[in-house]
Amino acid sequence: MSQLHITVNGTAHTLDVSESRTLADVLRYDLKLTGTKIGCNEAECGICTVHVDGKPVNSCIYPAFRADGAHIRTVEGLANGHLHPLQQAFIAHGAVQCGFCTPGLLMTAAALLDEKPNADDHDIKVALKDTYCRCTGYVSVIAAIKSAGRVLQGEPPLAPNEPDVAEKLNHISVSEPVQDIEDRVTGRAKYTDDYVFDGMLFARTLRSRYPHARIVRVDTTRAKALAGVRAVLTAADVPGENIHGLVHLDWDVLCGVKVRYMGDAIAIVAADTQDIADRALELIEVDYEPLPVVADPVYARTPEAPLVHEGREGGNLLKHIKVRSGDIEQGFAEADVIVERTYHTPTTEHAFLEPECAIGIPAGYDAEHNKLTIYVGSQIPYQDRNQIARAMAVPDEAIRVRGVLIGGGFGGKEDIAGQIHVAMLAQVTGRPVKMLYSRSESLLFHPKRHATVIRIKTGAKRDGTLTAIEAELYGDGGAYASLSDKVMTRATTHATGPYVVPHAKIDCYAMYTNNPPSGAFRGFGVTQSAFAVEQNMDLIAEMLDMDAVEIRRINAQRVGVATATGQILRESVGLLESIDKVDADMRQGAFKWGWREGDIAYGWGVACAYKNTGLGGGAPDRSDAEVEAFEDGTIEVRTSSADMGQGLLAVLAQIAAEELGLPYKHVRVLSVSYTHLTLPTNREV
Ligand code: FES
Repeated sequence: MSQLHITVNGTAHTLDVSESRTLADVLRYDLKLTGTKIGCNEAECGICTVHVDGKPVNSCIYPAFRADGAHIRTVEGLANGHLHPLQQAFIAHGAVQCGFCTPGLLMTAAALLDEKPNADDHDIKVALKDTYCRCTGYVSVIAAIKSAGRVLQGEPPLAPNEPDVAEKLNHISVSEPVQDIEDRVTGRAKYTDDYVFDGMLFARTLRSRYPHARIVRVDTTRAKALAGVRAVLTAADVPGENIHGLVHLDWDVLCGVKVRYMGDAIAIVAADTQDIADRALELIEVDYEPLPVVADPVYARTPEAPLVHEGREGGNLLKHIKVRSGDIEQGFAEADVIVERTYHTPTTEHAFLEPECAIGIPAGYDAEHNKLTIYVGSQIPYQDRNQIARAMAVPDEAIRVRGVLIGGGFGGKEDIAGQIHVAMLAQVTGRPVKMLYSRSESLLFHPKRHATVIRIKTGAKRDGTLTAIEAELYGDGGAYASLSDKVMTRATTHATGPYVVPHAKIDCYAMYTNNPPSGAFRGFGVTQSAFAVEQNMDLIAEMLDMDAVEIRRINAQRVGVATATGQILRESVGLLESIDKVDADMRQGAFKWGWREGDIAYGWGVACAYKNTGLGGGAPDRSDAEVEAFEDGTIEVRTSSADMGQGLLAVLAQIAAEELGLPYKHVRVLSVSYTHLTLPTNREV
């Protein structure tokens, strides 16, 4: 331990810190300045950026003792009585979505503008190259920084881009800020790891060393004996069913018999500190009997492939999904050209910037927590509650899931991560327990976009009209089902692309393997089949010497046609209109498909895709929200949907304001992920 003297946002502090403590640790956990976020802990993502004596640093790797005597500025110190021009510009330009990266972007930009207020696009891109945002795409961020630079030079701000729509209503189609936007730009917005409770313990998970193995022995004796360890739990300690899952119950809460991928959990530890929990993991002894590995979904379907889930009817086949329309043989007989190719698409990681975190609070901890309560940034907290209750052997009503702001999800926060584990540890220890995944653990553990192998055969007439598509898709579902059968159903139903295809035969095999599970990810399976369909469209166009846009225009779905699944598109099919707009935009000036300038090659491409809305598959489409009107003319909208940066709160408020003819500010929205912020009361609106 040594004494650290620092001045943070103008306030002097003296603290005792160990040599291993980072500046981010000191700011977040000692000084409770949780506006500074940690995304990777390896100085890669840049969202932990703060200023040390005016210079931007990655506080997650910056040793705290190096800051001795320094002046530190964090996002909490950016506003000075009123919002900094950068904070105002981020709000005005819609440069904030989930908000998890926002403090890092703001501090990086502030350092740039301190030095160069007239920074141009290139300067800004260079400054931001090591500060990541997964939500925005940077266009609005760059515009906001330029606008703030102008204000700092005494010039008027840049006008934000307004949506380009033919008809504007009062609120819908107009940009409105989400109601907690000031919390997100000032560091007040709280994500799960920002919550701290008295007496809180820290949890870690022991994961498998093998992708496929039988567990012969687990011995936790030495870990339990370590000073500061409060609980070490294994499969035998799961109070209820040792299983969870979204559609299929196939995922062990803790593995006691067999592991099926490297992310499988075998034991969990709660200890007084994170370091002690880490050391305890090293003391848990596990003997394995490694088993042959299934790493490929095509191999997984062969008779010789080892079984990932022994005794399961269907073996490694999770689901066979089919689409049939017309007569496939007739379709290819009518074709003048046929293309057949096999495409491979990779597993893809969501890379949300906030790693998974969950906090369990035992029932009776205080007056507010009279039930076993889990704080978590989850996309579907009601499903979480159900899965936690099953594992804890209690009714759903005995569990409370407190949704917290989500630092990006993109589909990757639908599955259970540490929720059940912290529930078990909190119950056993009688104390709050926090489990925060490291970035590497997050990458290892959570379900990703399905890797696929897609063989696709496309037939067309000489004039470019499609006659048939036959496809066989293999989806790598990984070790557990997650949402595989739903995701691969979308891949199947969309495997004819957004085109009129009279004859189709599509077979999709969602397979178990020993890879990390696959699940929901933006596009939900459609991305993979769209890639294959569009590659073949380009090849057909090339064979027929047709323009790549024209062949898509000829075959585009339009009002009145049927999809390959037999759905008649009765209204609002905007594909032709979209193609025309893109085409006109592309061909402005001297359009070329490809050209070189010195060492740089440039090219244009065009592709079309469509995506279903609603759950589909025959499930009823419905969504509900409660709306309560108050005497002062304000209303409150309450929904169980989670905001993960997609603008849900603003959209719901816009709909309500539009429908009820109210000013936007007279609507407040409570969602499951938005109950703990500095909400305006209806009197303050
Ligand atoms: Fe940047 Fe979500 S707003 S990561």
